[in-house]
Order: sequence, then C-alpha cells, then structure tokens
Amino acid sequence: MSNIPQGKRDSFGSSFGVFAAAVGSAVGLGNIWRFPYITGQNGGAAFLLVYLAIVLLIGIPLMLSELSIGRHAQKNPIGAFLQIAPGKPWFLIGIVGVAAAFMISSFYSTVAGWTLHYTYLSVLDKINTSNASELETLFNEFHTSQFMPLFWQFVFMLFTGLIVIAGVRDGIEKYTKILMPLLFIILIILSIRSVTLEGAKGGLEFLFYPDFSKIHSKTVLDALGQAFFSLSIGMGTLITYGSYIQKNANLSRISLQVALADSFVAILAGIAIFPAVFAFGIAPSSGPGLVFLTLPGIFEQMTGGYFFSILFFVLLVIAALTSSVSILEVVVAYLTEELKIKRKQATILATAGILVIGSLATLSFSTLKDAHIFSKTIFDFLDYVSANLMLPLGGFFIVIFVGWAYGKKFFSAEITNDGNLVVRLFPVFNLVIKYIAPIAIALVFLNELGILG
Ligand code: TRP
Repeated sequence: MSNIPQGKRDSFGSSFGVFAAAVGSAVGLGNIWRFPYITGQNGGAAFLLVYLAIVLLIGIPLMLSELSIGRHAQKNPIGAFLQIAPGKPWFLIGIVGVAAAFMISSFYSTVAGWTLHYTYLSVLDKINTSNASELETLFNEFHTSQFMPLFWQFVFMLFTGLIVIAGVRDGIEKYTKILMPLLFIILIILSIRSVTLEGAKGGLEFLFYPDFSKIHSKTVLDALGQAFFSLSIGMGTLITYGSYIQKNANLSRISLQVALADSFVAILAGIAIFPAVFAFGIAPSSGPGLVFLTLPGIFEQMTGGYFFSILFFVLLVIAALTSSVSILEVVVAYLTEELKIKRKQATILATAGILVIGSLATLSFSTLKDAHIFSKTIFDFLDYVSANLMLPLGGFFIVIFVGWAYGKKFFSAEITNDGNLVVRLFPVFNLVIKYIAPIAIALVFLNELGILG
C-alpha cells in the first residue's frame, strides 16, 4: 500500500489491471491441478459439459453479483454486508467466507508446495521418466514424507504473505500481466506434445466424448464446487477485489472475460493431461496426485523437456501465488478493516494461522494419514467441505442477497455504471440471479443430501 494517497482506498491502476488481477485470482491450481483430478474422478467428458454449463449459467452472474457488492460497498466481505444491510444477519455470508478462505489456503498451500518441489526437481533434472510406476514412486516418496512437503508449504506461504504485505496494486497487478499469457502459451505447447504421444487418443475421447450415464448427483455437485473454486466465487474474493475496482470499469465485461479465460485454461490443462494419462497407463481417477504423476512424463518425452519443465513449474507456482494472494487478501482485508489490525500484523497473523491448519493438511499424507473427519483425511475434508459445501452455500446467499433482498439499491447502477453503459445481457443476468441460480444450487444440494431421493 506504499504509494497510495492518504485516506484513499488502494485500487487497481487500469482496467486491464483489474482483468489481470481477477484472472490471476481465478487461474491457478484450480485449473491445472484440481480440474483434471476432479474430471478424472467423474468420468471425463460428461462432467466437462456440466461444468461448462454451470460456469456460463451460474458462474458469470455470481461473479457479477460479487463484484457489484464489493464496488458498491468499498469494503471487505463482512464489512460490505454490514454496510449494505446494517443490523441484519447477512454479514454471516462474509464470516463463512473468511472461514472458507482459511480452509482453502490451508490445503492450497500443500499443493502449491508440491509444485515448488517439482520445480526444484526440474532444475536438478530429476524428472526423467515416463514410466507409470516410476512416476508414481517419485510422487509417493515425496508427498508421503514429512519434512520436505512442509518445508515447501512454508516457503510458499512466506511468498504469499510478502506479496500481500506489499499491497494490492504493487503486489498483484504487475506480475499477472506478463506471466499469465506466458503460462497460456506453454500450456498450448504441452498440449501439442501430449496429443501427439502414442496412445493419446483414449485421453481425448475421455475428455470430449460424453457418456451421459456417468452423470449422477455427485457429478453435478462436484462440477458446481469445481466451477466455484476455479472462478474464485462464493466466498467474497471478488467482493474484496470489486472494492478495489475503479468506478468506470465494465463489470459485466470483466466477468465474461475472466470466466472465458479461466475455462479455456482448464480445458487446455485437460488436453495436456488426459492424453498423457492414457498414453502412460495412469488411472484417470488417481485423485489429487494426477497432474504430478502425469506432467513429468510429458516433459521426458519432449525435445527441450528440461527447459520446458522448469518454465512450466515456475509459471505454475506463480499462478498459484496470484490465487493464494487473493484468498489471503480476504482474511487480511477483514482483519485490517473490521478489527483495525495493521496490514503487516494482520498478514503475519493470518499466514501463521493458515500454516498451523495447513501443516495438518500436508501431514495427512504421512503422519496423520489415519486421522479421519467424516471418513475423509484432513486434506480431503478441507478440500471437499470448502469447495463443495461452503462456496455453493455462500453463492446461494449472495444471489439471494442481490436478487431478492438488497440488489435494488445498487445492482443495476453498478452494472451500468450509473446508466452510462448499455448492458444487453442485463435482463438475462437478472433472471439468472433471481431464479435460475438459487434454484439450481438448492436442487443440487438437496439432491446430494438425499432429500429429493
Ligand atoms: N480460483 C483459484 C484457482 O483456481 C483459487 C482461488 C482463489 C479461490 N480465490 C478463491 C477458490 C476464492 C475459491 C474461492 O486456483
């Protein structure tokens, strides 16, 4: 927050900066690590279709709702609801959001630590096999050990904390502008290599040839959770970022562009991963380790693989950092604005707390592997509950808030910049926010809980 005039809120410098920051938040491990592993567990193409439908239909209007709340209130998620609806319980959405931010950061930093380790392995040229069982040994020996995964997780959170202390504009905007396009290009190169591997065809069929008998209520809930996780919606990240957006930025355009870019990166990650999964004979349903089992094998099969592996993992770490920063920012904005703790202290406090819970998530692959909460390991519990339950629940109440409770006061003014923009899709957004999104989320939930049978 260094060069911000006194009394003025920190903000993004340009409208491209806003886009870059929102893409920075959205594009991360959610696209490249979580999307392939969840898609793999849910049988591929049919899941992808449900996923894309949810992004379009629910994701974009919800992004727009969050951005408009944030820019209108100029506050963190809890403060925003308190300001718009004083004395009402809506601020609880913000509380759940801050709790979700804590939980997501905890296991996110575990996986980000894995990517740091793979960066290190690439530099040492230790990634040199495309043999499935050797790839598995490489990953298993590392992630079930005790010290190294914790070490990398701490390093990652240290970086995250340092960027957040530096502040939104100086910290986030500068890097995403250059590095996200670069990540995009290298993903395309990786996809080309993967698709041309021998035996790649099965992977493309898996990803693009839908088998609708594979769609169950769990598939739909997983798609909902994954869409919210990947777009960074449902917990107030975009309320926080919305509060830093300038008054003349076009919120609907930003939402559309971010959702498109994010989905594009996820699909590209799928095109890079699944052909290789099939070519190497790895199980698509391998779970959270899937990309770490697959990627090294692609590099090994590539001309210039040494160089590309380093570049890719460095960029992945950076993509994870810009996302992690946006999650931590939710907690820090709350601590500084509502509890009046100084930014630096707030960041240190939040980072330390995340590391405590995060260590448990990391150790749930080794020392704590037998500790279960509702029959899930600590890692799986944090991952599942935050993405599949807390984000959709948060999203549900956010669209109710905008569609039915307080939206009249600000929604159309924010979307049209006080009448200065013509937004042709406005009636569609309204319809979705009022009816389609809340009903769809409620149905998915009730169905999964078995209430609809
Ligand atoms: N969307 C990011 C990713 O795909 C992760 C993330 C950032 C996030 N902020 C969030 C997830 C808020 C849920 C909520 O890696």
